[in-house]
Amino acid sequence: MEKTLVLIKPDAMERKLMGEIISIYEKKGLHISALKIIKPSIEIAESHYIEHKGKPFFKELVNFITRGEVCALIIEADNAIELVRKMNGATNPLDADMGSIRGQFAVSKSENAVHSSDCAENAEREMKIWFPEI
Ligand code: CMP
Repeated sequence: MEKTLVLIKPDAMERKLMGEIISIYEKKGLHISALKIIKPSIEIAESHYIEHKGKPFFKELVNFITRGEVCALIIEADNAIELVRKMNGATNPLDADMGSIRGQFAVSKSENAVHSSDCAENAEREMKIWFPEI
């Protein structure tokens, strides 16, 4: 079984979409093996988005993800990384399949409801940031 790290971001949390989004993963048959609600520190946010450091939108990204609560999940399934990214949809909601989570719930490239790891190496790295106790 492969593991991936998912974040339900502050925009979706503020709009009370947490349950609906979790239910999409569950109805697909994916296993949620860890879950927590956390208001991330700047340190956690900067370390999570380290590969975007230096990009023009980095500060906006950190300000956004730290502005409120985030729901962090570890999802386990065969091919979890690719599967969850397909379910989430493209980063830009304009490009996202309208049936995807971002296609349904997001209108902005920065406030786009969910995050999930893009490769096995980042999944390991991100799980350690959000779930250091595991
Ligand atoms: P996420 O999957 O969390 O990983 C990196 C995030 O950077 C991405 O989702 C977007 O929310 C954000 N992002 C990517 N490109 C841009 C951009 N051009 N402007 C603002 N935010 C962006």
